[in-house]
Amino acid sequence: MYRLVFSQVLRRFDAEAVHQLTVSALALLARLPLLKRLLHRALAPHDPALRVTAFGVHFPGPLGLAAGFDKDAACAEGIAALGFGHVEVGTLTAHAQPGNPRPRLFRLVPERAVINRMGFNNAGAAAAARRLRRPRGLPVVVGVNIGKTKVVPEAEATADYVTSAKELAPLADYLVVNVSSPNTPGLRNLQAVSLLRPLLTAVKEVADSTPRRTPLLVKIAPDLADEDVDAIADLALELGLDGIIATNTTIRHGGETGGLSGRPLKARSLEVLRRLRARVGDRLTLVSAGGVEDADDVWERLLAGATLVQGYTGWIYGGPLWASRIHRRLATRVRRHGLKSITEAIGRTA
Ligand SMILES: Cc1cc2nc3c(=O)[nH]c(=O)nc-3n(C[C@H](O)[C@H](O)[C@H](O)COP(=O)(O)O)c2cc1C
Repeated sequence: MYRLVFSQVLRRFDAEAVHQLTVSALALLARLPLLKRLLHRALAPHDPALRVTAFGVHFPGPLGLAAGFDKDAACAEGIAALGFGHVEVGTLTAHAQPGNPRPRLFRLVPERAVINRMGFNNAGAAAAARRLRRPRGLPVVVGVNIGKTKVVPEAEATADYVTSAKELAPLADYLVVNVSSPNTPGLRNLQAVSLLRPLLTAVKEVADSTPRRTPLLVKIAPDLADEDVDAIADLALELGLDGIIATNTTIRHGGETGGLSGRPLKARSLEVLRRLRARVGDRLTLVSAGGVEDADDVWERLLAGATLVQGYTGWIYGGPLWASRIHRRLATRVRRHGLKSITEAIGRTA
C-alpha cells in the first residue's frame, strides 16, 4: 500500500516538502492524547523479549530513528507512537541557522538512497530545550545530537558544543557529539584525535555534571580510514565515553554534493561496526546506523555487536509502519532462535 502511495504520489513532490509535512503531522499527533496512545499501544514494541538496556537507559526495542529527521525536537512522541524504540533529535547547534539553500534533499529511488546537504538547519539549542522540557504523555527515549554552528570557526568549536551541551544534556536520555556530517565545512576535521580529545573532554564534563550523569556518545563518518576508526575507539575508551554511533552519511558517491544514505551505505556501515567491535568488545555501546532496511539488517547488526540500531532512509522507503513491522519480526526471530531476550543475540558473530 505504502509502495503505491510512494510511487504514485509522494515521489512526485519535493522531498523536503514531504518531510516538513510529515514532521507537522507527527507534531499534531503528539497533541492528540487518545490517538497517540492508541497508536502507541498498537505499534510500539511491548514485547519484553525486545527490551534492551544501554548505558543505564531502558529501550523498549533496539531500533530507533537516526538523527536528522526531528531536527528541532518537534515530534518525538509522534515518532515513538509509530513504533521506534528511541528518537535521536537534532543535529542541534548553539545558534539557530537556516542551513544550505534549497534544494538540499534528493531521493535516489532505484538505489533506495537519499543525498542530503541540509547543513544543520535548526532553530537552535535553546528553542529545542524549551520543547524538551514539556511534559510528555508517552514514554519516549530521546537522544540529543549536537553539532557546530556553521559561522563559528574551528578554533571556537569546543565552546560552541559546550553551549549546546549545557542547554541540552540535562534534558537528554543520551547526548551525541556529531563530528561527522559532511555539510558543515570543516566539521569532519574534528574527528582528528588531536581536536576530538579536547572537544569530547569538555562536553563530557558537562554531561557528567547533570543530576543523572547523561551518557555521552560520539557519531563518526563511514569515510574514515580504518586506522582512524581505531583511534577514535581508543579515545572513546580512554575518555570513558558511553558509546559510538557508526555511521553518518558518506561523501563517497558520484551524485549531487552532499551525504549519501540508505542501501549503498549498508556494507561500509557494517564494516565499521565490525571493526569497532573487534577493537572495543563490549566495553562501549555500539549504535549502528547506515543502510538498515529490514529485520534481517537489524539482526545482522546486533549479531555483529551493536546494542542499538538506527535507521532513517529505510523508513522513507519502508513507510510509516516500518519500525513497528521490524520490531514484530525481531520478536518472532528471538523466539525462533530459542532466546529469551534479544540481548542474547548481541555480538554473537563478532
Ligand atoms: C535527510 C537527512 C538528514 C540527516 N541529518 C543528520 C543530522 O542532522 N545529524 C546527524 O548526525 N545525522 C544526520 N543524518 C544521518 C543519519 O542520522 C544516518 O546516520 C544516516 O542517514 C545513515 O542511516 P540511513 O542509511 O538509515 O539513513 C541525516 C540523514 C538524512 C537522510
